[in-house]
Amino acid sequence: MTAGWNVLGGCLLIFVLLRCFLHMTQDATEPLIVACGIPFFTPIYWMFRKKTNFYVWLRYHLPIYTLRLPGVRMYVVNSTTLITAVQRQNKLLAFAPIKVKAAIRLASPSKATINILESEAFGEIGSGEYANMFHKAIQTQLSPGSVEFQDMALASRQERMFGLYQWIREDMVMSITNAVYGPGNPFKYSYVREGFWEFESRMMYLLLGLSALAKGSIRARETIVESFRRYYASNGHRSGAGITRTRYEYNAKNQIPLEDIARFELGGMVALITNIVPTTFWVVYHIYSDPALLEACRNEVNGETCETNDPEGRKLRTICLSGLENSCPSLMAVVKEVLRLHTVGTSVRRVMEDHMLSGKYLLKKGSIVTIPGQVQHSDKAIWGQDAGQFNHERFLTPARHIPPSAFRAFGGGVSLCPGRHFATSMILAFTAMLIMRFDFVPVRGTWPRPTTERAGAWEVTPQPDEDIEVQIGFRNIGEKHQRWAFSLF
Ligand code: HEM
Repeated sequence: MTAGWNVLGGCLLIFVLLRCFLHMTQDATEPLIVACGIPFFTPIYWMFRKKTNFYVWLRYHLPIYTLRLPGVRMYVVNSTTLITAVQRQNKLLAFAPIKVKAAIRLASPSKATINILESEAFGEIGSGEYANMFHKAIQTQLSPGSVEFQDMALASRQERMFGLYQWIREDMVMSITNAVYGPGNPFKYSYVREGFWEFESRMMYLLLGLSALAKGSIRARETIVESFRRYYASNGHRSGAGITRTRYEYNAKNQIPLEDIARFELGGMVALITNIVPTTFWVVYHIYSDPALLEACRNEVNGETCETNDPEGRKLRTICLSGLENSCPSLMAVVKEVLRLHTVGTSVRRVMEDHMLSGKYLLKKGSIVTIPGQVQHSDKAIWGQDAGQFNHERFLTPARHIPPSAFRAFGGGVSLCPGRHFATSMILAFTAMLIMRFDFVPVRGTWPRPTTERAGAWEVTPQPDEDIEVQIGFRNIGEKHQRWAFSLF
């Protein structure tokens, strides 16, 4: 009995001491602390419970607030005015240290490479030159039309019934990686494809520095790295897209050894594959589950498709990629609405020096600033009462002014996603080809919207928890033998 009282008393004492510590170490001009019921523990507990929904669930109607986590302060920015202020201070509130740390944990490069990256990103200058210039170097290689993707394996399938997400995933991974890595694409080997998903499944633990919990991911990583080491050593990148050559050359110029170039490509793969695939799934899901929308999108894409004969006299149907973006308003509106409703990306910055944000809020050196996109995307004051529903028409006939910083599917400021044009083209092209050629009927007769509770906290577009079994049929007789292609204009 006495032992029980002692434990209780001890807990109470620790609780009181922690509360005192919290308040004594919080400056009056810092943003207000929230979620501090049990200091340091409460925010961690809810982050693990709520995962990607954490910030929306917490949704404080404060322009900015502080979360005190063990060892670090996190300032969460809600107001669009403050978001702009954060994005303007790209030296004091820097992205480079964050991405360097993530790259090191994910790829586990050599000590020499870590020194190069860390001395720049965390040093006196805090310039993060390697990391920032890398972004610039690859940006032009990802501009509209810079990567060609003629290769979509859609027609070659024999099955008549399958999981829609799995099917999209397999097809897109091959289309994307063939376009980017060229004929030597290591993803043509099933062990690399399987290894990639194994690596991805416990990636969060690697990002958190908990590698003991990510043994399978580490094994898969080493297999992938070895196949990419061979790819670069045999000059496979020279026949890849400009983005692959540029990434290689940029790293080589910065004295990054070949083995580490192969390791850093893991980050490239994650960026390339893991967001495009689920985003495409949600686009396809919303279109096929609404017959009127499917019809409208088909009519639009039909207007951007022309029929010619190839040199052997066979019919060739060509979809114009720029037409999809510029002359298919419903299709484009679906993509934007999916990005608004389904993405949960968070922009993260490190505070390099004490800084008074907008002359009002003290941000302390070494803290983290985060801007959760989902909070903006679900704000009824910005998007209207139906902000929680899928309604692509809000992008067809905008009834209200949307501040640019409130649409954050691709982040913003210095870290604005350089792959956004490539991703958009890829999603549009894949969906256009699919709706022109195939009908899908859900095996269960309806299109229930899958949940995303099991998605990893790092996923920008969460994957569905369960797949949707569908039956596939060609839309037209003779479609099986129809030839299809894409043109840029
Ligand atoms: C639907 C697809 C995609 C979505 C939703 C997406 C979203 C994002 C978001 C939210 C960020 C963080 C921005 C910030 O912190 O403010 C980001 C950054 C980034 N994305 Fe994407 N992305 C997509 C596709 C791609 C693709 C295809 C690539 C590359 C080929 C790519 C490469 C990157 C890179 C390298 C960064 C870091 C930027 C930097 O270094 O400053 N992304 N993306």
